[in-house]
Amino acid sequence: MSFPVDVVVMAAGKGTRMKSLRPKVLHRLGGRALAQHVIDTAAQLSARSVVVITGHGAEQVEASLVVPPAPDGVATPTLRFVRQEPQLGTGHAVQQAAPALTDDGVTLVLSGDVPLTRAETLQALLDLCAGERLALLALDMPDPTGYGRIVRAHADGPVQAIVEHKDANEAQRAITEIYSGIMAVPTRLLRGWLARLDNRNAQNEYYLTDVVKFAVADGTEVVAHRIADAVQVAGVNSPVQLAELERAYQQRLARALMEQGVRLADPARLDVRGELMCGQDVEIDVNCVFEGRVKLGDGVRIGANCVIANAAIDANAVILPFTHIEGETLGVSIGRGALIGPFARLRPGAQLGEEVHIGNFVEVKNSKLAARAKANHLAYLGDATVGERVNYGAGSITANYDGANKHRTVIEADVHVGSNCVLVAPVTIGAGGTVGAGSTITKNTAPGALSVARGKQVALENWQRPVKKKP
Ligand code: UD1
Ligand code: CA
Repeated sequence: MSFPVDVVVMAAGKGTRMKSLRPKVLHRLGGRALAQHVIDTAAQLSARSVVVITGHGAEQVEASLVVPPAPDGVATPTLRFVRQEPQLGTGHAVQQAAPALTDDGVTLVLSGDVPLTRAETLQALLDLCAGERLALLALDMPDPTGYGRIVRAHADGPVQAIVEHKDANEAQRAITEIYSGIMAVPTRLLRGWLARLDNRNAQNEYYLTDVVKFAVADGTEVVAHRIADAVQVAGVNSPVQLAELERAYQQRLARALMEQGVRLADPARLDVRGELMCGQDVEIDVNCVFEGRVKLGDGVRIGANCVIANAAIDANAVILPFTHIEGETLGVSIGRGALIGPFARLRPGAQLGEEVHIGNFVEVKNSKLAARAKANHLAYLGDATVGERVNYGAGSITANYDGANKHRTVIEADVHVGSNCVLVAPVTIGAGGTVGAGSTITKNTAPGALSVARGKQVALENWQRPVKKKP
């Protein structure tokens, strides 16, 4: 049983209750736009195409969404956008997509504001459709208010119709089996049914759900795939619902990490807004936020309250509390057994070798530190190349910016930079050299030399401090 799948994502609605200037489907969950979650899930189904129906904020939505690269051996679906203006209902929305669909396939209808449907669930729905049935994703809801009800001839009898809440009579409103908004339908049949929709109902909208009664009239089998997990069909209409689904999503990720062996101090106090890959025996303390792509090697420990984005941290490195790491596009890499923090700040292009130590209030940007180099307190390393075993003193900085251009500082192996030094780039400190505390270094220094560049200490013997005059 194999047929091409074309996914239609409805994303034209306004999302009034978000009370936001941003189109609803671009609000973020786990660091990704709501509609991006839907597209990413569709891509896992080896769909042939994804057609997104846009309306409110169409340009912004169209500019923001992408198809992720498909896994090996799976074709990447094409992504197309279709405008729906004005928005006259879900049936009208899918009518706009119809010209982009091909009759040999199955159309899977999804909503851009329902982010957490599992690919397995959608695959089961497609299997049930099998290229010939109308398959509806359904759910039992204790409080079905607002949803379309699945009307059957009798309990567990064949599906007869979906009746929208606003059109339902008392008996129908008592039905707790609801339509999730997700269906799989043979495209050749859908096309005929879409042409028959009208807007004679309580909301004067073209309801996609009316295809059910056409299917019944035409003798097409209608089947409902009932799931128990409401999170999979929950939509986002308000900031409260967005926050609720964010928690559900984070719980899902935290559980998956723990099942892999990651030890989380508290799964409720973890936020992953991107992709977190962990080796064996990784430990993560409370209130950490991971963004973009983060890779933690075997035995890595992350202390409480760290924010880590776009970084690769090698085996057995330890990140102490309150450390901020942001690799952006350049990335940050941290070598085996390194010790970072507390209160360290690593910026794009920080490349730290094995067993490097970066202590409190030390900032590193676009700099490469070789194995066992140390900057333990209150320092800045920007655009620097630092050799092995260098010790970089408290309060020292690289003056890398002359107001117009950035320049590099090279500190060769085994150099000892004293406290409170300024290394004015471009400058090279020769291997094994020492820079005396408080020096401002503007010229290259020779290997092995002690370089001191500060006012000479003077002593005035028995100097009398001024005393306050009597009035
Ligand atoms: C729809 C279903 C209802 C189901 C519910 C599940 C219909 C008629 N009703 O109702 O049976 O229980 O979803 O959540 O389909 N959209 C457009 N263009 C439009 C209208 C809507 O793109 O003209 C988009 C919205 O942005 C949204 C999705 O379609 O992403 C669903 O629309 P919404 O208005 O939320 O449908 P409901 O009335 O909740
Ligand atoms: Ca809705």
